[in-house]
Amino acid sequence: MKMKLHYFSVFIFLCQLKLLMVMSGSIPLLRKPITAISSKPHISPNNLPFKDILSSSYYLNTCPQAEGIIQQKVKAWFQKDYSLAASIIRLHFHDCAVRGCDASILLNYKGSERRALASKTLRGFQVIDDIKAEVEKRCPKTVSCADILTAAARDATVLLGGPFWEVPFGRKDGKFSFSKEADMVPQGHENVTALIDFFQARGLSILDLVVLSGSHTIGRSTCYSILHRLAKSDPTLDRKYLKNLTRSCKWSYDYVNLDVATPVTFDVQYYKNLGKNMGLLSTDQALYLDPRTAPFVSALATQPDLFFNQFAVSMVNLGNILIPSTPNQKEIRLNCNYVNP
Ligand code: HEM
Ligand SMILES: *[C@@H]1O[C@H](CO)[C@@H](O)[C@H](O)[C@H]1NC(C)=O
Ligand SMILES: *[C@@H]1O[C@H](CO)[C@@H](O)[C@H](O)[C@H]1NC(C)=O
Repeated sequence: MKMKLHYFSVFIFLCQLKLLMVMSGSIPLLRKPITAISSKPHISPNNLPFKDILSSSYYLNTCPQAEGIIQQKVKAWFQKDYSLAASIIRLHFHDCAVRGCDASILLNYKGSERRALASKTLRGFQVIDDIKAEVEKRCPKTVSCADILTAAARDATVLLGGPFWEVPFGRKDGKFSFSKEADMVPQGHENVTALIDFFQARGLSILDLVVLSGSHTIGRSTCYSILHRLAKSDPTLDRKYLKNLTRSCKWSYDYVNLDVATPVTFDVQYYKNLGKNMGLLSTDQALYLDPRTAPFVSALATQPDLFFNQFAVSMVNLGNILIPSTPNQKEIRLNCNYVNP
């Protein structure tokens, strides 16, 4: 048994390497080479098609307090309402999934991503605003909203009992945000091909897709996102669980936990649930049923260490999605809700 698990790890590692090789060069987005979590991110400027260079020491001279402020603030909010931690992780995903990690999701005006239908249940904006206000007091016009959100997502993960990783900094905030683009983020009814395509278009691998979906080990969903499953009595959904969900879902704005068994623990239970037809979203369950993603699901379900290590790596990959820009195209926003006047 032990031997088998070991082979699975090697298999995963090889797949990862292969994916990386296939993708490097063919994708115009920034990709950090996969490294162990403890080692410093090493991005070679020569490999980059543009000048956005991230580094974990980016604010070392200009705002050494930034990371500490972010961590303290996230912790304080977490202690008031632990459910904000999951929401911040999701907010970071929705930021990076559209126009790269540029805080475009935080812009708050008619027609912006934040006002899109797909953004309706995003939460945690007040946490980022609170952090930004404090950071501006200590280091004016220095730390981007995109970097704050990225670090906050890491700190939220750690507070939930998940892994730690070093966050590379140096993102700039974008000046554009369109609700139409936010509505293209997967919403839970897509097929696996669409999910893989969406991730690969952003430089993320199939492994990243399966591992990052593991964030659904915590947090919750509105019933709205599973109505299509309840309506047609989805055969890939466990019967008892389906009944339970139907009972919990009186209204589309009711909430149900994404991980039915251990909803507030950052663990591999999410993957175990999939093996029992107890994934909440049809996109979650589909990862177990598709031959391209199923081997990863099975491997992760039995190897917590693999999940933690790879989650850290995949979150760095997610945070490294950047869109090339010319010097004046981006800025350090003063208020995360608005482009600077
Ligand atoms: C693979 C594609 C993905 C799909 C289709 C998807 C879909 C969803 C849906 C439908 C919800 C519930 C929304 C609602 O009705 O309230 C949700 C919640 C959530 N998602 Fe995803 N997601 C995906 C990927 C990700 C990724 C990559 C992350 C993070 C890295 C993530 C983190 C979360 C978290 C933490 C929640 C819970 C939010 C809360 O409790 O406020 N998801 N996701
Ligand atoms: C998956 O979804 C895409 C886009 O929504 C669609 O064009 C495609 O036909 C679907 N593929 C399968 C196998 O159902
Ligand atoms: C329904 O789910 C809830 C929470 O997930 C659980 O506590 C309860 O025991 C379940 N009820 C049935 C009848 O399965």
